[in-house]
Amino acid sequence: MDSYTVLYGVIGDPIRHSKSPVMLNRAFREAGINGAYAAFHVTPDKLGEAIAGIRALGFRGLNVTIPHKIEVMKHLDDIHPGAKAAGAVNTIVNEGGRLIGYNTDGIGYVRSLKEEAEPNLAGRRIVVLGAGGASRGILWALAQENPAKLMLANRTEEKARELAGAFASEFEIEPVAWSDLREACRGADVVINTTSVGMSPNADETPIDPTWLKPGAVASDLIYNPLKTKFVREAEAGGCRGHGGLGMFIYQGAYAFEYWTGQSAPVGVMREAVMASFN
Ligand code: ATR
Repeated sequence: MDSYTVLYGVIGDPIRHSKSPVMLNRAFREAGINGAYAAFHVTPDKLGEAIAGIRALGFRGLNVTIPHKIEVMKHLDDIHPGAKAAGAVNTIVNEGGRLIGYNTDGIGYVRSLKEEAEPNLAGRRIVVLGAGGASRGILWALAQENPAKLMLANRTEEKARELAGAFASEFEIEPVAWSDLREACRGADVVINTTSVGMSPNADETPIDPTWLKPGAVASDLIYNPLKTKFVREAEAGGCRGHGGLGMFIYQGAYAFEYWTGQSAPVGVMREAVMASFN
């Protein structure tokens, strides 16, 4: 670092578990960029001051994680349409003093799904499990790929109907009753778990019976702790193609890197850095 180093970071509460500094610093080094990325523990009462600090110090970019992804929006100068649709911001770009909010979670997930499991989502039948915060941005990003059908099921069915309704003017999402999931999954090309079911320490749970998926279909999970959930593992045993959640984390960071630097992200070494930090 020297007096030309461009600063970046991530804010959250908690934050010490974050793999983003390891991943992004490795990316800057690989790309030969004089940048540095740190993690900042910012509590909700200090969010406004933290954003003012970013402006004052001239940070080029910031990632925002739980619990600030929604609240941070009111401190920004402009919000990208994808982040508006997702209802949350996870990446801020400082354009000469104007702070612009983006959401790279949903598009990061879809890029990971395409690069790692199913290159062509157009014309596919997709079932999304869960209607929480993560689901919203992913539904928007999936819809941009023109699937034949986008179905949404949630344990609390009213929430799936509400979320489908919120997107009704832009594209069609079919709410599916949790009790009709078996049939919906049998006809699906891709089934995506956005719920927290199966996350450590409850790694022996699955959101649905993995044998409901047809052989050859993609079983995808946003969870990356464990790296391969029981849902993905058992679907693979039944002839499905598995897709884990680590790629979503890597590619949300890759998009952030690309928005900040205008260069394509060195995805391979970013993944290596994250994997090494797990060990
Ligand atoms: P996130 O922001 O990570 O999506 P969230 O907003 O708390 O987290 O959403 C959690 C999702 O997991 C919800 O869709 C939730 O379903 P409900 O709306 O019915 O609560 C889902 N979920 C959590 N535990 C579940 C379980 N045991 N079975 C099915 N769905 C579950």
